[in-house]
Amino acid sequence: MSDNLTSKYIEIQGVEQTFKTKNGPFCALQNVNLNVAKGEFVTLIGHSGCGKSTLLNLIAGLTTPTQGALLLNNREIAGPGPERAVVFQNHSLLPWLTCYENIYLGVERVFGAGDKNAGAPSESKIKLKERTDAALALVGLSAAASKRPGEISGGMKQRVGIARALAMEPKVLLMDEPFGALDALTRAKLQDELLSIVALTHSTVVMVTHDVDEAVLLSDKIVMLTNGPAATIGDILTVDLPRPRDRIALAKNAQYANYRQAVIDFLYTRQKHVEKAA
Ligand SMILES: Nc1ncnc2c1ncn2[C@@H]1O[C@H](COP(=O)(O)OP(=O)(O)O)[C@@H](O)[C@H]1O
Ligand SMILES: [Mg+2]
Repeated sequence: MSDNLTSKYIEIQGVEQTFKTKNGPFCALQNVNLNVAKGEFVTLIGHSGCGKSTLLNLIAGLTTPTQGALLLNNREIAGPGPERAVVFQNHSLLPWLTCYENIYLGVERVFGAGDKNAGAPSESKIKLKERTDAALALVGLSAAASKRPGEISGGMKQRVGIARALAMEPKVLLMDEPFGALDALTRAKLQDELLSIVALTHSTVVMVTHDVDEAVLLSDKIVMLTNGPAATIGDILTVDLPRPRDRIALAKNAQYANYRQAVIDFLYTRQKHVEKAA
């Protein structure tokens, strides 16, 4: 694959998203242009209500844009697909299934039915079990396999959500504030775990956050959105910090502080939040 192709793994071209509301059309996003390279970790940051989830849902194919186009690997994104797994803030696990079963369900759907188009045969139950066990092990939850979501902590639930997404071997991992509902310590732990998992899987990740430190710690590129309506990309910051990244060492790193300051300046000076009447 040429450099040109790998640097344009996800292409977002002139995207606009206008919603029909009872008060007439509401333009959430306008003229959004972005390329994400293969294996890149990109975060979307911006004030609440600016359109981060709207953009992520477009990449997930859960919605289609009113203008423009989104492509993955040169193919238009026309709907949701297992090559783009999504992790939401509220884990969205099925409460009546165990952690194991929640992951197995997704694994079975993706690998158990085979892929007639790609000529891939359906996998055996043993292979599906192996995939499920491996995903649980990846997030350190092998011991909790037979527990139900109601019996585990918030951090563990998010880990199951991440395991479920990764078990599908997605080309792209899409995450919408996956750690937003967690306490600071659990959040830090999961960020570190995510860093090691991504180092292992080389996944392409697009993650929504409103946490500046989270964005700098995790990202290769921080995409900063302007305030809505008609939000767009205000600036893109390339985070050129070596990996593996260690939060303790980075806390004393001058370059880290500069990146952090650049995002804070964007959010709190250039895009001072205006509370909407709506
Ligand atoms: N389905 C919808 N219909 C109408 N307006 C919507 C819809 N989804 C989102 N919006 C509006 O679009 C804007 C962006 O929303 P969202 O992407 O959820 O913001 P963020 O994730 O950045 O907090 C908000 O003003 C929100 O009210
Ligand atoms: Mg959101």
